[in-house]
Amino acid sequence: MNKYQSLVEAAVAARERSYCPYSGFAVGAALLTADGTVFTGANIESASYTPTVCAERVAVFTAVHQGQRQFEAIAVVGGKAGEPVTTYCPPCGVCRQVLAEFGHTAMPVLLYDGKQIKELTLGTLLPEVFDKHNLD
Ligand code: THU
Repeated sequence: MNKYQSLVEAAVAARERSYCPYSGFAVGAALLTADGTVFTGANIESASYTPTVCAERVAVFTAVHQGQRQFEAIAVVGGKAGEPVTTYCPPCGVCRQVLAEFGHTAMPVLLYDGKQIKELTLGTLLPEVFDKHNLD
């Protein structure tokens, strides 16, 4: 069994609470922090479209607001609302940047297509990142 199976399952469950009446695309995320806590999120849309927030950022901002800034791994799952996931849902560019604010380059990013868990790293998803060190 994959060591991140339960994290992926938490993302699948979080997806149930997506509010996505405009796209019909439901995403769930589960973020594991250094103390072992799992923070979840789902995408939340707006009739005005642009205020929409992705599942990953809901999870990240919840964790940070609860005092957790050390991230160990994140699982992301997405697909047509009301249906099981069948394809991988990689994090969007904005969420990659937000993850890079707190996560490290080797941080695992787990994707799931309903059958297999694909393990990537944040560094692979966002090479040559602009981060706090660029501001030194
Ligand atoms: N979405 C996420 O929640 N995470 C991503 O990384 C990609 C996109 C959401 C935003 C929007 O509600 C819907 O998926 C369609 O783009």
